[in-house]
Amino acid sequence: MPVTPEQVLEALKVVQDPDLHRDIVSLGFVQNVEVDGGAIKFVIELTTPACPVKDLLQQQAEEAVQAIPGVESVEVTMTARVRSRDAMQEELLPNVKQVIAIASGKGGVGKSTVTVNLAVALSQRGAKVGLLDADVYGPSIPMMMGMAGEHPLTKDSKIIPLERFGIKMMSLGFLLQEGQSPLWRGPMVAGTVKQLLSDVAWGELDYLLVDLPPGTGDAPMTLAQSVPLTGVVIVTTPHNVAANIAGSAAGLFKRLNSTVLGVVENMGRMVLPDGSTMQVFAGKSGEELAQGLGVPFLGAVPLDPQVSSAADDGMPSLVKHPETPQAEAFREVAGQVAAQASIKALGSQTTVPGPEFAPRA
Ligand SMILES: Nc1ncnc2c1ncn2[C@@H]1O[C@H](COP(=O)(O)OP(=O)(O)OP(=O)(O)O)[C@@H](O)[C@H]1O
Ligand SMILES: [Mg+2]
Repeated sequence: MPVTPEQVLEALKVVQDPDLHRDIVSLGFVQNVEVDGGAIKFVIELTTPACPVKDLLQQQAEEAVQAIPGVESVEVTMTARVRSRDAMQEELLPNVKQVIAIASGKGGVGKSTVTVNLAVALSQRGAKVGLLDADVYGPSIPMMMGMAGEHPLTKDSKIIPLERFGIKMMSLGFLLQEGQSPLWRGPMVAGTVKQLLSDVAWGELDYLLVDLPPGTGDAPMTLAQSVPLTGVVIVTTPHNVAANIAGSAAGLFKRLNSTVLGVVENMGRMVLPDGSTMQVFAGKSGEELAQGLGVPFLGAVPLDPQVSSAADDGMPSLVKHPETPQAEAFREVAGQVAAQASIKALGSQTTVPGPEFAPRA
């Protein structure tokens, strides 16, 4: 009895995506099933190139199909297509699939640091990434990305984003003259944030990460009200969790009907030279905050002096020190953020495309 594509799909139904809690066939991930005698080929199209369970899904899929009687070889091609958030018809960012804001209750917890390293991690996995510095009070992205003093060009009355480490970026810092710092009134902040979204030729992006100023002021309000956000990532230190400052930022976004994708803890632990870890701040962990808010915990980034020295040298630490525990932590957090964004995007889709397969004659 020759193997049929239907048998292959049936067998693949045992493979569950652990984040989406559904099997990869009903999610529409399995495509182009080709059966040539006992040789089986198919494609698994995930929702993000940064999928943390990519290898696991591939292995399970291979095993499931290998177990069908008559199957001699299995070739799985893993690809990814980032799904769009809802309301893609919107005018402001029509070609951006996911918009993810990074927020915190208080300043100095490492939002900008987390944002640039997440951007790099997603880009290294093959995603098209943009980075918007919406911290109009103290734009720090230009410095952290080694682009301080650069100015973007304009074309057809749109600003061309500057590019570094494969990431397109825009910051008010690129538009100000050196030493200039604007004096803000509320409506001006709102207008500027909106312009940084709309007047920039972002092109096609899988992810636009938005680094917000700390707190619950005009910039996060404007952002949440101007574009349909995929969701918000809350960065905190254990100290801020204890003081319940991080919770207030999460509360604001929930009130604005934005999804909180989860909590990242930064600088709670420190990796010591012998490889052990030390708790730096007393206080509750980011994990406890996530639990309290009923949102996922996205991971913890340890305190490492190399993180800040890399930033001072104009390099995300993930680029400068890729083989460190903090770099691994940033990659893991990026995978979790991408996974949660996928869950949100798939959840908002009304129909999931059915499987396609092309049986060979
Ligand atoms: N994991 C880390 N290890 C060591 N230093 C870190 C780490 N994360 C951030 N820092 C350092 O802490 C300082 C504050 O970080 P960052 O500017 O990213 O915070 P922020 O929340 O964006 O601040 P602001 O509220 O001012 O925008 C920086 O000097 C940065 O290099
Ligand atoms: Mg910042």
